[in-house]
Amino acid sequence: MSIVITGNPGVGKHTIAKELAEKTQLEIVDINQLAKDAQLFEKNDESNDVDTEKLKEILKEKISDKCIIVGHLAPYVLDKDKVGIVVILRRNPYDLIKVYNKRGYSDEKSRENAGSEILGVIAYDAKNHFEEKTVQIDNSEKEIQEILNKIESILAGKNKNEEVDWLELVTKNNDLKKFFVD
Ligand SMILES: Nc1ncnc2c1ncn2[C@@H]1O[C@H](COP(=O)(O)OP(=O)(O)OP(=O)(O)O)[C@@H](O)[C@H]1O
Ligand SMILES: [Mg+2]
Repeated sequence: MSIVITGNPGVGKHTIAKELAEKTQLEIVDINQLAKDAQLFEKNDESNDVDTEKLKEILKEKISDKCIIVGHLAPYVLDKDKVGIVVILRRNPYDLIKVYNKRGYSDEKSRENAGSEILGVIAYDAKNHFEEKTVQIDNSEKEIQEILNKIESILAGKNKNEEVDWLELVTKNNDLKKFFVD
């Protein structure tokens, strides 16, 4: 059964996928890497606009039921019936900003990506698209091992879905402006 790991940039998809691949001996299929290799990203700006139709075709050749498919584009380029389970990783937007700073993202790009996580854009699209195959896990300030254990339980059929509400957190902290207003 293939495992999809998705979520907004910086939530920990590759970190978790690598460890999971070692444990399970499943191969990683990296959606962004495939798109880059095929030169499907638009080159002119910082955004991640990609030709999803071409990427869908490429992925069809690459995926099997013995792989871990990683990427924030998963909901837009994978068929529901071709995947086993879909793990949506979430992460506290304050932690994400730290990740983006380390990566050297511009302020605009950081806020855009953190804002997208606050609103749960990828989570929403993944749930809509993959429906009952999705399970959401909060990767904020967690040991990687804890996340791996949760994924193993999910694979064993247990329901480990976690709710997060960053909008409530950010509102309570009076930080909406920090993320959404120039
Ligand atoms: N559970 C965790 N504990 C501590 N650090 C973590 C954890 N998960 C991820 N990280 C760290 O967070 C950063 C972002 O993780 P990672 O690169 O795996 O995210 P990603 O979702 O693959 O991002 P992208 O979408 O941009 O590829 C990395 O520096 C990674 O080491
Ligand atoms: Mg990554």
